[in-house]
Amino acid sequence: MQKLEVFGAIRLKGQINISGSKNASLPILAATLLSKKKVFLNNLPKVKDIETMINLLKSLGSMIKFNKRKLIIDNSKQNKNFASYNLVKTMRAGILVLGPLLAKFGYAKVSLPGGCSIGTRPVDIHLKALSKLGVKYKIIQGYVHAFAPKGLIGSKINFPKISVGATENLIIASTLAKGTTILSNCAIEPEIKDLVNFLIKMGCNLKWISKRTIQIIGINQSKEAIHSIMFDRIEAGTYLVAAAITEGNLKIKNVIPYILQTEINVLRKIGAKITTKKNEIKIVGNKKIKNINIKTAPYPGFPTDLQAQIMVLLCKANKKSLIREDIFENRFMHVAELNRMGAKISISGNKALINGNTKFEAAELMATDLRASVSLVLAALAAKGKSQINRIYHLDRGYESLEKKLKKVGARIRRLN
Ligand code: UD1
Repeated sequence: MQKLEVFGAIRLKGQINISGSKNASLPILAATLLSKKKVFLNNLPKVKDIETMINLLKSLGSMIKFNKRKLIIDNSKQNKNFASYNLVKTMRAGILVLGPLLAKFGYAKVSLPGGCSIGTRPVDIHLKALSKLGVKYKIIQGYVHAFAPKGLIGSKINFPKISVGATENLIIASTLAKGTTILSNCAIEPEIKDLVNFLIKMGCNLKWISKRTIQIIGINQSKEAIHSIMFDRIEAGTYLVAAAITEGNLKIKNVIPYILQTEINVLRKIGAKITTKKNEIKIVGNKKIKNINIKTAPYPGFPTDLQAQIMVLLCKANKKSLIREDIFENRFMHVAELNRMGAKISISGNKALINGNTKFEAAELMATDLRASVSLVLAALAAKGKSQINRIYHLDRGYESLEKKLKKVGARIRRLN
């Protein structure tokens, strides 16, 4: 099994180009199932989750050419509506094929994604909302068997809780439903806006009618579309934290700074110096890091996907900080490993109390999930000496060429087989 070896502590300096967003690519790839016409996608990231989604689509009968971040997908002969456990188990976003398959065929059998290390992560909100579009479903031996005897029928749905995946699944399904659908209390993550922009290019009829409400008028057939995936804001946020933690000096390119406004505000409060241009953020880390309290929240709040990374930074703050994790109940898997590196973090329910002034010590470490893994890389960059991080297949799910990008800005990091 591969691992990463990191020698710290080194100041990062230089420029990092941000890749396309994994979390925007996944629902957009699922949404291509709606179309009988060709779809051209640019700027897909080269990460494992995208490979998994492409394999899932191929198993459903999609014809796909993927080369140098560009993908051409032809679903004119796509005819299968069964998503197997083998392809959905490693990636929860597999459930996103349920909406488009139902919209297209009126029947689908899709494996339940199951739990994962950051929480139980059910799909009840997806299923209850789909049932309001006329879907009947049963769960048999780990599979959702869902059918819409009269086709999908537009409806008014108010999500009981903000869910990124459920919002995406319902938006996609509703584009081919009969009549009008109004979805309220939607997630409004930038990746959802990217999905909506893509669907509009495919000829679908969608319109935001208030901050968290979208109106979708069903169409019969979509058209050929070309779309370029937005930048990965979590990857960008991770490198901003990397600069702050190493007292580095980085230019983060290919981004839209206003999308990262919450993160930029937090990093400024902590003491980092940040300037922005149209597609660029410049950050200079400060020796003194100020403490701060943070709670994770749906966009535009502070993202749960950056909670582990910011925690590493707060370990170096001058005083105590508090992080409240309000999205996932069990997303503190990184804490035990960080404490092994000298951090002093205590957990109580969904709160982590972080004592500052940590001098990280290098160690042999174990990654547990995607964002926890990268937080260990950040801590290792700040620790004097040699750290090794095991189970990096988690990292490869969502970070394109992490070690290459870090090496280019001065990190001493290599992959061991
Ligand atoms: C997406 C992101 C993930 C991010 C998360 C929150 C992708 C591929 N993944 O995950 O990186 O961390 O948003 O920003 O885009 N919930 C239910 N029932 C449901 C659905 C969700 O109880 O049917 C709960 C979840 O367990 C969680 C909360 O709602 O506590 C939010 O989850 P959700 O927004 O749905 O996350 P994902 O779409 O899975």
